[in-house]
Amino acid sequence: MTIDHIRPADEGPYRPGPERGFLAGRTALVTGGAKRIGRALALALAGEGAAVVLHYRGSEADARETAAAIEDRGGVCLLVAGDLADAEVAEELVAVAETAAGASIDILVNNASIFGPGEALDTSTGTWDLHHAVNLRAPFILAREMARRLPAGRTGDVINLNDIRALKPGSDHFPYTISKVGLHGLTRSLALALAPHVRVNELLLGSILPPDSGYGDYVHTPVQEIPTRRFDTPVEVCRGMLALLANPAMTGQSLCIDGGRHLL
Ligand SMILES: NC(=O)c1ccc[n+]([C@@H]2O[C@H](COP(=O)([O-])OP(=O)(O)OC[C@H]3O[C@@H](n4cnc5c(N)ncnc54)[C@H](OP(=O)(O)O)[C@@H]3O)[C@@H](O)[C@H]2O)c1
Repeated sequence: MTIDHIRPADEGPYRPGPERGFLAGRTALVTGGAKRIGRALALALAGEGAAVVLHYRGSEADARETAAAIEDRGGVCLLVAGDLADAEVAEELVAVAETAAGASIDILVNNASIFGPGEALDTSTGTWDLHHAVNLRAPFILAREMARRLPAGRTGDVINLNDIRALKPGSDHFPYTISKVGLHGLTRSLALALAPHVRVNELLLGSILPPDSGYGDYVHTPVQEIPTRRFDTPVEVCRGMLALLANPAMTGQSLCIDGGRHLL
C-alpha cells in the first residue's frame, strides 16, 4: 500500500527560518502598530515582502514615523486610524484597510490592546467592558470580517498577540487578564471555525516591554525568574510570528515567547 500524503524525507527545505521575502504579494493589517511591539511586527512583515496597513488610534506621529521607516526600506505602508473600543469602527476597519491598500487583507495581526491595573474587586463594569471590547471583541470582529471578505480560493492568517497570563490567570490586572483568557479561547475556536481557508494562531508573550504609560502597579519580571535568564525582545516576538506564518501545518497554535516562564 502506498500512502501518497507522506512526503519523502528529502523534500525540504528544512531551514530554521522562512525564505526571505516569503510574504510577497500578501497584505497585512496590524492593529496598534504605530510603536513598540506592533511597530516591530509591521517592520518584520514588510521586510518579508507584505504590504502593510498600519492601524493606530492616538499615536499618529509614531504611525507616520513607522510608515516612513518601512518605505525607507523599500516596503509599502498605508495608515488607517480608529478606536477599536467602538464596535462600528471595528466592523468597518478591514474594509477601510482594503480600500487603502487596494487589495484584500490576508494577514491580520491583532496587536492593539489595553493593559489596565486592578484586582477583581477594583474592576468597574466599564473597565471590564473596555478591556473586553479592545482585547477580545475587536480581534473577533476583525477576524470575522477578514474571513468573510477573503475572495474564494484565497487563504489568510490571523495572529493574535496574547500574554502567558492567559494560560495561568492570576488575580492582578484582572480585566486585562480575563480578556486575554478569552483571546486564547477565541484563537482555538476560530482556528476550527475558519479552517481550512484561514489559520488562526497566537503568540503568548512574557515580559517584553514595560507599559508605555509608566509602571503603575506593574513589576517587570526579574531576570532570575525567567528560566532562560535573559529578557526576550520584540525581534524575538517577530521571529515567532514569522514562524507561524511560514508553516501551513500550524493552526490553533499557542506559541510562547517567554523564555520558558509559562512552565513555572
Ligand atoms: N509589552 C509586553 O511586554 C507584553 C507582554 C504580554 C503581552 N503583550 C501583548 O502584545 C501586544 C503588544 O504589546 P505592547 O505592549 O506593544 O502594546 P501597547 O503598547 O500596550 O498597545 C499597543 C497599541 O494598542 C493601541 N490601542 C489601545 N487602545 C486602543 C483602542 N481603544 N483602539 C485602538 N487601538 C488601541 C494603542 O494605539 P495608539 O498608541 O495609536 O493609541 C497602542 O499603541 C498586546 O496585545 C499586548 O497585550 C505585550
